[in-house]
Amino acid sequence: MSKGRIFSGVQPTGNLHLGNYLGAIRNWVALQSDFESIYCVVDLHAVTVPQDPAALRQSTREVAASLIASGIDTKTAILFNQSQVKEHAELGWLFNCVARLGWLNRMTQFKEKAGKNRENATVGLYSYPTLMAADILAYCATHVPVGEDQKQHLELTRDIAMSFNSMFGVEFFPQPEPLIQGTAARVMSLRNGTSKMSKSDESDFTRINLTDDVDLIASKLKKAKTDPEPLPSEIDGLADRPEARNLVGIYAGLSGRTEADILSEFGGQGFGVFKPALADLTISVISPISEKMNALLKDETEIDQILADGAERARAISAPILAEVKDIMGFVAK
Ligand code: TYM
Repeated sequence: MSKGRIFSGVQPTGNLHLGNYLGAIRNWVALQSDFESIYCVVDLHAVTVPQDPAALRQSTREVAASLIASGIDTKTAILFNQSQVKEHAELGWLFNCVARLGWLNRMTQFKEKAGKNRENATVGLYSYPTLMAADILAYCATHVPVGEDQKQHLELTRDIAMSFNSMFGVEFFPQPEPLIQGTAARVMSLRNGTSKMSKSDESDFTRINLTDDVDLIASKLKKAKTDPEPLPSEIDGLADRPEARNLVGIYAGLSGRTEADILSEFGGQGFGVFKPALADLTISVISPISEKMNALLKDETEIDQILADGAERARAISAPILAEVKDIMGFVAK
């Protein structure tokens, strides 16, 4: 029986990495049998920063293929790309007229992404969180599995839902619950344990991509920043050792074991032992995904068909919700 309705999304801006996988996608796969699940490749979000059209098209298909290769079952879960369902953009506009400048001004991701040259950022980048709220609320989703970095956007989504309900005196939108799960909800860069593993980091050696081959994974982990101390036997010993903590967290995430359990096995050992074990584990999880993804990408028509079918199923849910929203707001329609 369904425990509720899930919506979550991922941007098609380059390859998916281990942070996306451990922080979000693996949880999407685990949740899809218990919840009605809607998963979206958010191409409208991607164009908030400049994109090359051919690269965007390719990346959308690659991300869709890697989600399927990771275990999203498109017979039950809905998988589609955002731009094929116009309700997202339409509700996004309506939410631009609900959200307040003060709320958006607090968004840390806008500050990070816009950087110093804020005057040159697109209006879309600034209002990104209202479109994200629309993604979720166009389906009246009850749960949103995401990594730690999306927490603030989810809080804004809840504020928008509440504000809409009180502006119009209705109990229409639910308060969606973030599902931020596991030790790997925030996977850090392999080169700096205090900054997040990210697609936009200039150096590819900061992240492991789902498309990396065996040799590249091994070499990235071998070169990962660490300290000269052996691993501690207790979690307390990882305080002030962000790089060591990150690698142990990744090992725990990939193996489904606790950090304490990993430290009881590797405590007292140096990284010369731990890193090769981590590389073997990473390869055993990632390689089958990239093989399957490459096989799927040989037939682009098939991927496009899956996305089109998913879009149709998504529209069947969101179109009536949008019609109700517009009625509540007082728009005339026949
Ligand atoms: P995006 O594309 O940056 O990331 C997709 C998912 O991966 C998670 N994630 C991480 N988790 C752990 N460690 C990391 N280093 C790491 N990096 C990324 C993200 O938290 C996310 O869950 N704004 C969203 C996309 C979006 C969305 C939505 C999500 C648009 N609409 C509606 C949920 C619901 C984003 O940019 O994710």
